[in-house]
Amino acid sequence: MPKLILAYSGGLDTTTAIKWLTVEQGYDVVALNIDVGKSREQPVVESRGMAAGAVKVRIIDAREDFVRYFAFPALAAGALYQDTYPLATALARPLMAKLLVDVAHEEHASAVAHGCTGKGNDQVRFDVGIMTLDPSLQIVAPTRENAMAREVQIDYLRKHGIDIPWGDKGPFSIDENIWGRSAEAGVLEDPWQEPPPEAYEWTRSPEEAPAEPAYLEIAYQHGLPISIGGQAMEPVAMVEYLNDLGGRYGVGRIDHIEDRLVGIKSREIYEAPAATILHQAHRALEAMTLSKQQIRLKKLIATEYAELIYNGLWFSGHHQDIAAYVASTQRHVTGAIRLRLQRGQATVVSRKADESLYDRGLATYDASDTYDQSAAVGFINIWGLQTRVQARTQLLGELPETLKIAMPGREA
Ligand code: ARG
Repeated sequence: MPKLILAYSGGLDTTTAIKWLTVEQGYDVVALNIDVGKSREQPVVESRGMAAGAVKVRIIDAREDFVRYFAFPALAAGALYQDTYPLATALARPLMAKLLVDVAHEEHASAVAHGCTGKGNDQVRFDVGIMTLDPSLQIVAPTRENAMAREVQIDYLRKHGIDIPWGDKGPFSIDENIWGRSAEAGVLEDPWQEPPPEAYEWTRSPEEAPAEPAYLEIAYQHGLPISIGGQAMEPVAMVEYLNDLGGRYGVGRIDHIEDRLVGIKSREIYEAPAATILHQAHRALEAMTLSKQQIRLKKLIATEYAELIYNGLWFSGHHQDIAAYVASTQRHVTGAIRLRLQRGQATVVSRKADESLYDRGLATYDASDTYDQSAAVGFINIWGLQTRVQARTQLLGELPETLKIAMPGREA
């Protein structure tokens, strides 16, 4: 039988897929479980996969690579989709696509499969990633090709002698990894409905979070976080620590109406305490170490980068170009940021950087002032030249209603 590598979470969809791909499609299925952190099915993947008829279950701990080569570069770039979503799910997909292809080569498989539906972004990220890395691989998407309702899936497995206590469906569709958790569907589909407490799992509500603040000092080197409170920390340990601490203080809840690549608007509840804190601190450090123009262009690039990550174009020349630009911008983004965590809020309270562009001598109002105030006069004279010239000839006559008071022109 031809061999196929399935991205296997251990959940009902992909467990059903193992059986379906074997019985209906005639594949030898190798179930590949990629651990990017936080999966509740992790302890049972092996036994479930084998029970469902996989010829082999392989588990790869990809957390380190995920944080180091996917989450942290997105952090350094400031990539937040629609200024909001730290891209946890979106960043994990290209890594999974790459590992599927790698394992397909190792196992001499001719096909790969994933459990994505036909309505979301994830199918695009998997498919585009896989076909870019190896166009010769067949791609199968059982859930997209042959969607089965939950009860049908459970029945189907039972008919094949696989009786697993699946428990309650749960009120939401969840995807989680170490960079963040997402919940959608159920009552969340009504955008007028406030998310119920059960929508959140990583974070306390602001009311339940401690009223006493916690202070946190994060140091960055070339745009990457390296230590907390002066203690060097490995990437995975750092993100776990901040998820835990931030979660206890209620930091990192995001309620977002998001535009999917396939044209659907969807309501997403994210929890991403570590990503929220790290992005906020990183931005504060860039404010100290980048020029106004660098900050302005980098924001445009960050939007573009988030867009390409979200839209499944990780393996692209566009990405290579952006990565080169981002790396260049981070040369001097080294320093420390202090934050206060309290009742759902993370607030930057102090910052320092050896190569800071903040010059106290220039900024100060006290006697140590090094700024030449008299030079401002000539500067303003030139700066105001364009509007003075324009006022002489153009700022006359009919004005939009809203400007009648706000910008009184002279009579024509
Ligand atoms: N909307 C997010 C994205 O496209 C998260 C999707 C996660 N899937 C889920 N079943 N909750 O990246």
